[in-house]
Amino acid sequence: MAKYLVTGVAGFIGRSIATALIARGDSVRGVDNFSTGKRANLIGLEAMEFIEGDLANVAVCHEACGGVEVIFHQAALPSVPRSVTDPIASNVACVDATVNLLWAAKEAGVRRVVYAASSSAYGDTPTLPKHEEMLPNPISPYAVAKLAGEYYMQSFYKVYGLETVALRYFNVFGPYQDPTSQYSGVLAIFCRKMLAGEVPTIYGDGETSRDFTFIQNTVEGNLLAASVPASLVAGKVMNVATGVRITLNEVVEVLRGITGYAGPVKYEPERAGDIKHSLADISLAGELLGYAPSVGFRDGLERTVAWYRKIEIGG
Ligand code: UD1
Repeated sequence: MAKYLVTGVAGFIGRSIATALIARGDSVRGVDNFSTGKRANLIGLEAMEFIEGDLANVAVCHEACGGVEVIFHQAALPSVPRSVTDPIASNVACVDATVNLLWAAKEAGVRRVVYAASSSAYGDTPTLPKHEEMLPNPISPYAVAKLAGEYYMQSFYKVYGLETVALRYFNVFGPYQDPTSQYSGVLAIFCRKMLAGEVPTIYGDGETSRDFTFIQNTVEGNLLAASVPASLVAGKVMNVATGVRITLNEVVEVLRGITGYAGPVKYEPERAGDIKHSLADISLAGELLGYAPSVGFRDGLERTVAWYRKIEIGG
């Protein structure tokens, strides 16, 4: 019987959490509908029990939750612009699926759910860094959907006593992140393009900034959130990031150094729903989880580029 359930396990964050759990000898079940996750991401996870299914289907949620103690809920339909194009699909994948999962978790007697919340909840407020006491101000449908998931987490803790912990991720990047979709994260896109000698496009003037977080930090935050006492974290929401912000222009400069790309950069208008600056205050996660980022931006980016190079060569 699996102790841990990872939803969205064929996505890059889910896969990375499952890998860490298996590496320390834990029994893991994963679920994914391959809407954005990749079958190739399951290679190396053969020790895991896998269910192919959609969490928008309640029966899949019941099957996935049976016998499980802790859930890492990573399944979602990421991307701000995707949600602007299709807010209904975002809502089904992020909100309906989350309620279904929480209900099934409660029915199955699951102890804790660690939820992949999003920094997008803060919206475009000028205050930096963003801290958890700030009033949420979601702009895009994606941000609203992820925030609704957070509120459901807190509701299930308050109403049913299910221990929930919401981790607000800030622009996670690293190996296994899909670089091929128009909805991919900017670092994945830039790594792929610049390695291939293609021109990267910056939306806006390039002074847009993000608290880019290397995947290992995110995984460590999740493992801590699953293990610290409920008295500290149940029902809580906290940022998991690095506390450093990098502009898109800086990203391109660092990537020029790592990839050797010497070509031009194209500038286009900002995308609808985009926010200008994002930077996390990570002191709450430090206090409650003992979290501290162990890999910085540059080191993480070097490891990421090395991985994209390898898969390019390996086909
Ligand atoms: C948002 C969330 C993030 C969440 C992600 C899910 C914020 C601050 N962050 O990321 O927590 O995980 O959604 O998808 O809301 N860009 C380019 N060129 C490109 C692609 C993107 O310049 O080729 C720009 C975008 O316009 C944006 C920035 O890069 O200004 C980051 O975009 P992206 O990587 O898509 O992430 P966010 O929308 O910031």
